[in-house]
Amino acid sequence: EIAQEAEHKGWHLYIVGGAVRDLLLTRNYEKVLLQDIDLVVDGFHRSADVGAGVELASTIQKKYSNCRLSVHGEFQTAALLWHKDPEFGSLWLDIATSRTEFYPYPAANPEVEASSIRQDLYRRDFTINALAVRLTPPREGELLDFFGGLLDLKAKEVRVLHANSFIEDPTRIYRAVRFAVRLKFEIEPQTEAYIRYAIESGIYEKLRLKNHVAPALTTRLKAELKYILEANYWKPALQLLSELDALKCLHNQVSLDDKIWWQIRCASRWLKYLDPDNKIGHWLIRLEILISQINIKERKQLAQNLQLPKESLERIEIVNTLSSEIQENLKKYDKTSEKYKQLYRYKLPDLMLVAVNCNKKIRRIIWQYLTQWSKVESPLNGNDLKRMGYKPGPKYKMVLDRLLSLTLDGEIQSKEEAEIIVR
Ligand code: CTP
Repeated sequence: EIAQEAEHKGWHLYIVGGAVRDLLLTRNYEKVLLQDIDLVVDGFHRSADVGAGVELASTIQKKYSNCRLSVHGEFQTAALLWHKDPEFGSLWLDIATSRTEFYPYPAANPEVEASSIRQDLYRRDFTINALAVRLTPPREGELLDFFGGLLDLKAKEVRVLHANSFIEDPTRIYRAVRFAVRLKFEIEPQTEAYIRYAIESGIYEKLRLKNHVAPALTTRLKAELKYILEANYWKPALQLLSELDALKCLHNQVSLDDKIWWQIRCASRWLKYLDPDNKIGHWLIRLEILISQINIKERKQLAQNLQLPKESLERIEIVNTLSSEIQENLKKYDKTSEKYKQLYRYKLPDLMLVAVNCNKKIRRIIWQYLTQWSKVESPLNGNDLKRMGYKPGPKYKMVLDRLLSLTLDGEIQSKEEAEIIVR
């Protein structure tokens, strides 16, 4: 339908990027569920048509009641979102206007058309992502492969399109790693050399220090980091980033030494057990551990640039003091109820960061707290006290707290014993 609309207007429409890559990688087209499709429109010959992508998108949107349109003016890109459509499921469709200079020639000229889509594809990250399929006649269905993407797909290689790619956009280093690990591809040796060269040049450090450039860069870096750290392949991806020295793009003090690697894995194991529904965002805790190795002032700055949530900022700011404080306090007490009182005011993410920072003995106590003590309840509740004839009042809390302590310390085992003590 979109292709027909484009054809009607005399434009060319292509499907590009990840969708083409993923379709070519599978043998069973029927089974591919594309949820994120990038289209590019070009081949126009009137300067008014530079907003072709947006125009096409709004024409389509008018035909579907359950479709939302958003426009990103800067790049003449429009996004259509079908949310839970009975036919498609959820579907994102990005329609971009070919990002090339306007060609004052007739669109029918195939050379101009080819060079326009070619330029658009040449600006992309990897050969495997620079493939396109033409959707409009003539030759609809034809695969456009200007840079050897098909060969690289077969050879399972992530190959960059030009030498400066990583200098222009460091997030591509993270993308290279993501595709390599996710698709089980290798990063082609020359591409790896470009990555290493870009990192050694120290350009990211310079960019980071220039505040006016850094926020936009780090926001995109955060999106890639999130993608990697929440994927089920986060471990090999993080290792590969470390092997390439690419964690330095975040900050020159970030590395994956044995200690940090252990801390991240330990926290992840705990979280899998303690927060199986991933309510607190395990990726965020992994990232917080990574950046907590930076000195306190700069780690806060980085976390702000990355626009981490407020709780995250607070956590990474206090983690060191909190760890020493909790460690010191726990040492002072023997009884379970006293240890419990030291820990109960903290939330799971705080305790996670502290636990991986502390020695084995303290870590064990925190584990016991999280898995056992925090689940213990006072054997009596307010209603029981009422039933026993006590008037509601501030004393209730004192009594119930005391009962909880006695239960934690194993001094009472049942409701009956609790009632005897209260009486
Ligand atoms: N792209 C790029 N450089 C970037 C980000 C994106 O060149 N830093 C291009 C690539 O051609 C990519 C396309 O934009 O294929 C779409 O980007 P995105 O949706 O992030 O990637 P996909 O390839 O669709 O990957 P995924 O399947 O993981 O979403």
